[in-house]
Amino acid sequence: MNTSSVIVAFVVVVSGLIWVGTQSNNADWTGNRNQCVGECYEEWKAAHGGGIAEVEGAKQMALAAASPAALGEKYYGQCIACHGNRGQGGIGPMLAGQASDDIVAKLTAYRAGEERGAQSAMMYPVAKPMTDADIENLAAFVSGL
Ligand code: HEC
Repeated sequence: MNTSSVIVAFVVVVSGLIWVGTQSNNADWTGNRNQCVGECYEEWKAAHGGGIAEVEGAKQMALAAASPAALGEKYYGQCIACHGNRGQGGIGPMLAGQASDDIVAKLTAYRAGEERGAQSAMMYPVAKPMTDADIENLAAFVSGL
């Protein structure tokens, strides 16, 4: 077999594969399957009660309208490992039964880097990123445990 017959054989095989590939394409697939425009988007809007912007806006409104305790509960997900899912304590002290004001004062102190107990260092990185609103929300949730 000389070089040119190898090349011819190669071209024939590759062309054949390309041909088979084009023949086995799904005719309904006219491009990017993830694209949802026109009729597809109208259907999506009908199913979701509005366009993407409206749906996102509604989500933001719902979040803003959520009670402090509900927002606190969400944030509390980060605390469960050390304080227990019901605030019963574990690695960290028991939080259940504490008054909202106490929780606010304690978290504010940790955020400021103040030493409270022997293990305060464990709470510094936890409290550091908290906003005042986060602390209020957490206190609202924790005081209800
Ligand atoms: C890595 C474990 C850990 C995580 C996570 C953690 N804590 Fe703590 N927490 C502790 C420890 C340990 C203490 C005791 C610190 C000390 O000695 O001052 C503490 C203390 C506290 C106290 C003071 C309790 C008291 O009665 O003195 C509060 C309030 C508190 N944590 C709230 C939270 C909240 C809210 C979160 C979640 C956002 C959280 N903690 C996440 C370990 C943790």
